[in-house]
Amino acid sequence: MPTAAITGANRGIGLEFARQYLADGWRVHAGARRPEAADGLAELASDALVVHELDVRDRARIAALAAALDGEPVDLLINNAGVWRGGLELHGRFSDELWLEEFEVHVFGAMAMCQALAANLAAGGGGTAVNISSGNGCFGWTDKSPDYPYNSTKAALNMLARGLSVDLAGDGVVVANLSPGFVATDMTGHASGLTPRESVSGMRKVIAGLDMGKTGAMWRYDGGAMPW
Ligand SMILES: NC(=O)c1ccc[n+]([C@@H]2O[C@H](COP(=O)([O-])OP(=O)(O)OC[C@H]3O[C@@H](n4cnc5c(N)ncnc54)[C@H](OP(=O)(O)O)[C@@H]3O)[C@@H](O)[C@H]2O)c1
Repeated sequence: MPTAAITGANRGIGLEFARQYLADGWRVHAGARRPEAADGLAELASDALVVHELDVRDRARIAALAAALDGEPVDLLINNAGVWRGGLELHGRFSDELWLEEFEVHVFGAMAMCQALAANLAAGGGGTAVNISSGNGCFGWTDKSPDYPYNSTKAALNMLARGLSVDLAGDGVVVANLSPGFVATDMTGHASGLTPRESVSGMRKVIAGLDMGKTGAMWRYDGGAMPW
């Protein structure tokens, strides 16, 4: 039974990843900041689903997850947890505190997760780590919405995959950034025709097709390469 670990799995894209991998027969370690309020995950309850209390800004919680998974191969890590604060992201509006929070979630948290689960990913011949990033973190993206904290931290997240793809290649671990598209979730006010189901189905196909020849790059949910 292949195994996935997913951050921010209690709603939106992360919850849909959990739903689809469980339906496909995977074991899923789902991170949620408040498991007791993770109603979507509760609906998916089964022997194959393990819910972990996980705030990726909290190193102790990441260490606790790594300890719980000690010795267990992880085929797929999905760094999905994310924050976007709408109008508070704009010029003259954002605070250092918000910017730091987004660095802590998108960059420090994702890196800490990769490091904490590196041995699990290497076990069993090499797994895959993907970061759910955004076109907003890419110079080549045409939507020029100036969301300073979000865009700059997603750009930094994108660069993590470059380094990790080199450092983890010896263990056979593939690393990639994914752009989910503009998806109807709480983050976007559900103002999109692209459903989590469609986006995640597409990203799962992309993930299934990743190999060492594609490591360190960024891909759209529909399989296209992202210019970053
Ligand atoms: N929706 C889009 O159009 C879109 C486009 C591009 C990229 N993305 C990216 O896709 C990912 C998922 O977004 P979404 O649309 O599903 O957003 P969402 O519905 O707002 O869900 C965000 C998830 O991240 C979790 N999270 C936030 N801060 C966290 C922390 N410190 N530790 C652990 N989990 C944390 C949230 O947990 P709580 O419930 O506890 O807050 C929630 O589970 C994000 O990285 C986002 O940037 C989304």
